[in-house]
Amino acid sequence: MADRNYLYLAPLQSFTDHHFRFAFQSVYGDVDRFYAPYLKMAHDGTMKEGPKIDVLPTNNPIETIVPQVMACSAEEFMVMADYLKSLGYDEINWNLGCPYPMVAKRDLGSGILNKPDKLFSILDNVLPKLDMKLGIKMRMGYEDTSDILTILPKLNDYPLSELIVHARCGKQLYNGPCDYDRFKDVIPLTKHKLVFNGDITTVEGFRTVKELFPEINHFMIGRGAIANPLLFEMIQEDSDEFPEERNELFKEFLTILLERHLLSSNNQGNILIKMTHYWEYFAASFENGQDMYRKVKRCKGIEDYLFCVDTFLM
Ligand SMILES: Cc1cc2nc3c(=O)[nH]c(=O)nc-3n(C[C@H](O)[C@H](O)[C@H](O)COP(=O)(O)O)c2cc1C
Repeated sequence: MADRNYLYLAPLQSFTDHHFRFAFQSVYGDVDRFYAPYLKMAHDGTMKEGPKIDVLPTNNPIETIVPQVMACSAEEFMVMADYLKSLGYDEINWNLGCPYPMVAKRDLGSGILNKPDKLFSILDNVLPKLDMKLGIKMRMGYEDTSDILTILPKLNDYPLSELIVHARCGKQLYNGPCDYDRFKDVIPLTKHKLVFNGDITTVEGFRTVKELFPEINHFMIGRGAIANPLLFEMIQEDSDEFPEERNELFKEFLTILLERHLLSSNNQGNILIKMTHYWEYFAASFENGQDMYRKVKRCKGIEDYLFCVDTFLM
């Protein structure tokens, strides 16, 4: 089907880990690809453990996962790429989007977007050694969204699998609107597969983006899909209505998510905190979600939490 829409689940550190991805894939459909949150080197020159474990094939019974690295030198990039290759991955993604000042000031994530020479030098060094496909996930710039005007035409010289563009600049963090005009302007500048990312939270919002950019048929969704895991299905069906079994499915999803966490850790307090963080997102797609979020925040333990969920989703 030439004009089918391809939908990707965005990586969100601390949220879309392998427990979440497993629960998501067990219950919901219509996700073409899952992106794992980034791997990064620690100050002692080793890879951070959590993200390393997150991408282990034993934790990922899915073929559709794309792991991600964040690096600002070819050496660090290759350590992580070699690790991912050894696990059997044949495609990785380079994070040029992380906006946090602590990260960006070290030329990591979006912090490298206003230093194109450094960016291209890393690609020049890495690509000849990389026996895997490479995609990039980027902001449109660091200080403002104009960096992309310089970067995109030059990226045409490199064999990239895709370019995922979060239509903001790094300095915006997650605030302010996406720059749709800039995104529209850069579409003709690239020969690569272009994936739109940013603020799609409803089917109506998806239609708006599709109308703005009819030539785009790859979309990445993050926070909107955590809030409403049915969003991918509803987009594919072009339906604003939740299916009748919405609550049943969500309960099944929450059960798997919790079970997976309980199996991997004895620290129920931490798991409860984790569930509370999820509910900050989940709350957004329910009419009385904020009440529920407040109740979850007051839960004293897992039993309490389960009762709260059962009552809410009855
Ligand atoms: C808490 C949080 C963690 C994130 N972690 C990552 C990450 O590990 N890698 C990445 O490329 N983007 C990360 N992002 C950015 C998202 O992947 C996505 O680009 C952004 O949220 C915009 O898409 P959305 O509006 O559909 O959520 C993160 C965003 C948030 C809010």
